[in-house]
Amino acid sequence: RGKRAFIAGVADDNGYGWAIAKSLAAAGAEILVGTWVPALNIFESSLRRGKFDESRVLPDGSLMEITKVYPLDAVYDTPEDVPEDVKANKRYAGSSKWTVKEVAESVKEDFGSIDILVHSLANGPEVSKPLLETSRYGYLAAISASSYSYVSLLQHFAPIMNRGGATISLTYIASERIIPGYGGGMSSAKAALESDTQVLAFEAGRKHGIRVNTISAGPLRSRAAKAIGFIDMMIDYSSENAPLQKELSAEEVGNAAAFLASPLASAITGTVLYVDNGLNAMGVGV
Ligand code: NAI
Repeated sequence: RGKRAFIAGVADDNGYGWAIAKSLAAAGAEILVGTWVPALNIFESSLRRGKFDESRVLPDGSLMEITKVYPLDAVYDTPEDVPEDVKANKRYAGSSKWTVKEVAESVKEDFGSIDILVHSLANGPEVSKPLLETSRYGYLAAISASSYSYVSLLQHFAPIMNRGGATISLTYIASERIIPGYGGGMSSAKAALESDTQVLAFEAGRKHGIRVNTISAGPLRSRAAKAIGFIDMMIDYSSENAPLQKELSAEEVGNAAAFLASPLASAITGTVLYVDNGLNAMGVGV
């Protein structure tokens, strides 16, 4: 039987989540995705209308199939956690069962189990503010959406993951080096995500026999990155200064994720894998 993957954080064909889905599909995995509730309608209708068909093409010429799209809001764990105003919000009221616990239950009902869990989502409402000017609300919201969301996903999905399975998240070097402009507590959120990768590797390894790794990716012009505002500068900086002077493609991160999720990586857990053209290894710009 082929492997089954659930990828949280796919809402268009520009981000790392989509590229990871493609690499996993090319390797023979069945693809399920979790899409942020407010983005669900446009993603599903674009899929249906063939808007992504060009980017669905796999190396063998076939089109990536997404078996099922689940609405998901990873800042809420159970229905009891959802505030009234969100419940009543028009964009949320049209969907149901989108808290983390409910999505895991639905996937279990529909498919029984999964082998691969990918967390490719982040959100920081104050990302464009320096940390020194970030509010408590903004900081905690960044941690909730970008770090705890991973703890929660693993908490609820690990019990339905087959032994030997793997989970992967996406992080950014701003966790460990100063990247001016990556504000709002997002640098803090990535530091938490990387530290949690180690602790969760131990706990989920012992309890469920699954591996936990994170990819520290270089800059990509995704929807989320464009919202931060400095992505073109980061891409230029990387091509000027990285050991490999080429633009990073989302596919390169997708392929690294497929490797980490595969039996080729069966002894790799608790690691941060840099997929950034080597930029992390530089001490100064050149
Ligand atoms: P993206 O915009 O394709 O992905 C972010 C996704 O998160 C979107 O689909 C959005 O709808 C979803 N999302 C936001 N809040 C959510 C919530 N509460 N519940 C469920 N989904 C939610 O952008 P990108 O850049 O591909 O981001 C994927 C991951 O890659 C993120 O963790 C990001 O921090 C990381 N990353 C991105 C880099 C870049 O330069 N683009 C560099 C290094 C890491």
